[in-house]
This record gives sequence, structure tokens and C-alpha cells, in this order.
Amino acid sequence: MPEPVIATQNLVKSYRVKGSKAEKKTSEFVAVDGVSFEVAAGESFGLLGPNGAGKSTTMRMIGAVSTRTSGDLTVLGLDPNRYGPEIRSQLGVVPQENNLDMELKVRENLLVYGRYFGLPRAQVARRADELLEFAQLEDKAAAKVDDLSGGMKRRLTIARALINDPRLLLLDEPTTGLDPQARHILWDRLFRLKEQGTTLLVTTHYMDEAEQLCDRLVVVDKGQIMAEGSPADLIRRYSSREVLEVRFGSTQNAEVAGRIQSLGERVEVLPDRILVYSDSGEHELERMTAAGLHPITSLVRRSSLEDVFLRLTGRNLIE
Ligand SMILES: Nc1ncnc2c1ncn2[C@@H]1O[C@H](COP(=O)(O)OP(=O)(O)OP(=O)(O)O)[C@@H](O)[C@H]1O
Ligand SMILES: [Mg+2]
Repeated sequence: MPEPVIATQNLVKSYRVKGSKAEKKTSEFVAVDGVSFEVAAGESFGLLGPNGAGKSTTMRMIGAVSTRTSGDLTVLGLDPNRYGPEIRSQLGVVPQENNLDMELKVRENLLVYGRYFGLPRAQVARRADELLEFAQLEDKAAAKVDDLSGGMKRRLTIARALINDPRLLLLDEPTTGLDPQARHILWDRLFRLKEQGTTLLVTTHYMDEAEQLCDRLVVVDKGQIMAEGSPADLIRRYSSREVLEVRFGSTQNAEVAGRIQSLGERVEVLPDRILVYSDSGEHELERMTAAGLHPITSLVRRSSLEDVFLRLTGRNLIE
């Protein structure tokens, strides 16, 4: 078996949090609570979970910028506690918040960053031009970073992370806050990297992003792994083939829910809609209307990772 690019075993990170001034007590907050997974070379692996699940904290430990509290961790075969600089020199990092240099122009951001890695000037210049093309920012080379759109800034951050030809690219929420078109452009770029064999670790709270980008993923909640598998595996394991979504109006949903519990394999009542899990959504809708229940809106769709998350935690991914 080739060595995994990332291996975590019972990884824990706890923070000391100060109580109020009056209390003067500090307590431990466990942000990552015994996480174990492995990522193979060339894989695109996701950490999918809601706000506060511990995704960024996990990523910072893997990126060798935050030390673990306990457990085992190797990145590119090395322990970050001992080999931080060696690991960091082989990583590309796209943090959750863009940290581009606003004082510098677009191309200069790449040049300066490349020189941090001690790469020769001519090589960095060549690589910067390749990456501007890759990020579709050639005509913005001389623009101020501040004048870029959100999607362009994100692409520049990714281009910058690639300047050292990293073996592993860490992407923390690559498309949060972007509009649908900008997200698709970004996914396309990341997909190309994946095709070229770059190992990707992606955190996201978007199930569609996880489905688009990840070969395998872990669903995390409150610092713990709830499930692991490919998107298709997880959906097969934790959901039905289809979902019927119906709305009866906010005041009616709860009352109707009591009358349709026998439909499908499972029924979830959310504040704004009712979900009926079944292999055939249309069939369930027919049964519903035959019973004299006529929803205001109805929609049949394929199960998604959102349904997996709901099943595992009883909550929605985006609250
Ligand atoms: N330096 C810190 N000190 C104390 N608590 C922290 C610190 N950093 C993170 N936390 C807490 O740890 C938990 C996990 O945070 P983390 O940023 O890893 O979550 P996340 O999954 O990345 O969430 P998001 O989707 O919002 O980015 C949160 O409750 C957060 O408040
Ligand atoms: Mg985060």
C-alpha cells in the first residue's frame, strides 16, 4: 500500500476558553474530538459539516500551523510537530478568508509569494504567467487586488497556493459567498487540478460542492465524524433513492405530518416543508393525493448529501 498523503488517528484539538471576568475560570472546549481518516495520493477528500463543526481547525493542524492536543497525524508522511517547515513547503493553502496582499497588483501577489518559497526569479515569473492563465486572470495581471470580484479573488488565492507546485492542496470553503456562476468556474478549475493528479482536501458546508468535488468525504458535526464514504455510498447508505418535498403552508405542516407518517420509508417534518423518503417520489405523491391531501407545492428529487446529514444529525446542514 502506498503511504497516505494525510493520516489522522484520534486527532483532538481543544482550546482553553476564558470564562467571564467574575468567574476567572478557564475551561476546555473540544473543537476536534477524535477524528480518524486517511487521504490517498491523487484523491479529492472532503470535510463536510455545518458552521463550527471543526473543519478549519482540522485543516490548520494538517497545514502545520496549529498543533494538535492529542492523537496522531502525518502529512506527506511527516509529523507536523517535528517537520512543520518541510510540510508547509510542499503544501498549497487556500484559507477560509482570502489573505491576498491588497497593496500589490494581481501578478505581484504571485511573484512575491513564489519568492517566499525561495524559488528562482525566472521560474516564479514563468509559473505566475501559467497560473494567471489557469485562473483566467491574464487580463487582470496589472489590476489592483481590491478591484477584483469575489470569484476572481478566490481564483487568485488558489493560483497563489499553486505557485510551489504543491503535492497537496488544502481548500477551506473554496466557494463560500460566491454566486453560482463564479462557483462553477472555480469547480471547473479545481476539477482540472484533480485530473492532473493533485491531492485535494476540501472543507465545505455545501453538499453540492462536496458532491461535485469529492471522491470521498467525512461528514463532521461537533468535532466528530458521523460517516465516511463516497457521496454515492453515503446517499445509498443513509437515504432513499428519491425524496418527495411537499409544502402545506406553515400552519398546516405539523397537522398533516401526523396523517402521512406511513408514507415512504421515512418522513421528516421541517418547519417549512415535509420530506417523504422513498424509491419513488411520484408514487408517494399519488398516495398522498388519494388520501385527500393536496400540498400547495410538491417536488420530487434525488436524495442528496443534505438528506444524509439530516438523517445523521436530525438537523439541516445550513441553518
Ligand atoms: N482559537 C480558538 N479559540 C477558541 N475556540 C475556537 C478557536 N478556533 C475555533 N474555535 C471554536 O472551535 C469550533 C470549531 O471551529 P472551526 O473554525 O474549526 O469550525 P468550522 O467547521 O471551520 O466552521 P465554519 O463552517 O463556520 O468555518 C467553533 O466552536 C469555534 O468557535
Ligand atoms: Mg471554517
